[in-house]
Amino acid sequence: MPWFGIINEYRNFLPVTHETPVITLHEGNTPLIKAVHFCARARLDLDLYFKFEGSNPTGSFKDRGMTLAISKAVESGAKAVICASTGNTSAAAAAYAARAGLKAIVIIPEGKIALGKLSQAIVHGAHVMQIDGNFDDALNIVKALISRYPITMVNSINPFRLEGQKTGAFEVCDQLMSVPRYHALPVGNAGNICAYWKGYKEYHTAGRTASVPVMLGFQAEGAAPIVRGKKIEQPETVATAIRIGNPASWQEALTVKEESGGRIDMVSDDEILSAYSLVASSEGIFCEPASAASLAGVIKLHKEGFFTPGDAVVCTLTGHGLKDPDTVFRVSKEPSRMAADLEVIEDVITRIV
Ligand code: F0G
Repeated sequence: MPWFGIINEYRNFLPVTHETPVITLHEGNTPLIKAVHFCARARLDLDLYFKFEGSNPTGSFKDRGMTLAISKAVESGAKAVICASTGNTSAAAAAYAARAGLKAIVIIPEGKIALGKLSQAIVHGAHVMQIDGNFDDALNIVKALISRYPITMVNSINPFRLEGQKTGAFEVCDQLMSVPRYHALPVGNAGNICAYWKGYKEYHTAGRTASVPVMLGFQAEGAAPIVRGKKIEQPETVATAIRIGNPASWQEALTVKEESGGRIDMVSDDEILSAYSLVASSEGIFCEPASAASLAGVIKLHKEGFFTPGDAVVCTLTGHGLKDPDTVFRVSKEPSRMAADLEVIEDVITRIV
């Protein structure tokens, strides 16, 4: 069956009517990939799967939420949308706004956005404002602006965003043809973990599945307000996508943890980078650093004896590594340089094969 995006595929579960204009780039239908080498390399005794959201049109899971948020904005007659972002939301907002013929305004922390994401917002024609502040400052500014101007906010506080993002959980169940025991995600503004939980619960209520998973969320140690139980004024992490000190869905994420019997924990930048390079080198999957927080978290909990051998665990890899190629050179060396000389090259080759 051809795929026309998540609204078309899951419309019975979404707040749309046949009058809602569907603004889509055919997002969703991302691969659920079974780990083949990662578990041995990371010493995990698990049935592990990667939900690779980097395969979405703008390279992150945000497209699932943005197709719905932008479609509903057009339905309501909006002319412009706005968001604060650590990069991926702005890339998706800019792309879907372009597709819809809407103006997009994005407010981002200067110098803390991966270059790929900044390029996306610019090339899609968004009005980009870089502020001398962090994501939390940007979000506060956006909240103040929407009460004064006729602009639709497309951050995850917009309920249509999470409605769209919950389709990630539907796909996992459809692809696995069952429900994983655990589902692990990185946590930044804490919207996506709530969206997945909503999706799993709705599929269960609709009789499509027999159970719901235990939800596991992972923050970066330098940006772990939920784990530490207090706002972080100056969040810091290599995983810039989740560099957030005061998540909008903080309380809701705690509810997900309680309802599902799950955990919200934190991982260090070293653990994140190690999982990031391991999944790339052992499985051929290039995700961005924030995405690897879910893997790093699973490795950490496994070491603590949290899992039963053979447990089915799905990790959402939220965004594509190509958005942030600079980080590669924090974990790997630049390729060696040599003369354009067959003998010199052969000398190296004989040591490899
Ligand atoms: N992974 C990536 C790649 C992200 O871009 C984000 C959030 C998250 C995980 C965390 O998801 O916020 O729902 O808990 N990025 C937002 C942005 C904040 O502006 O692009 P969350």
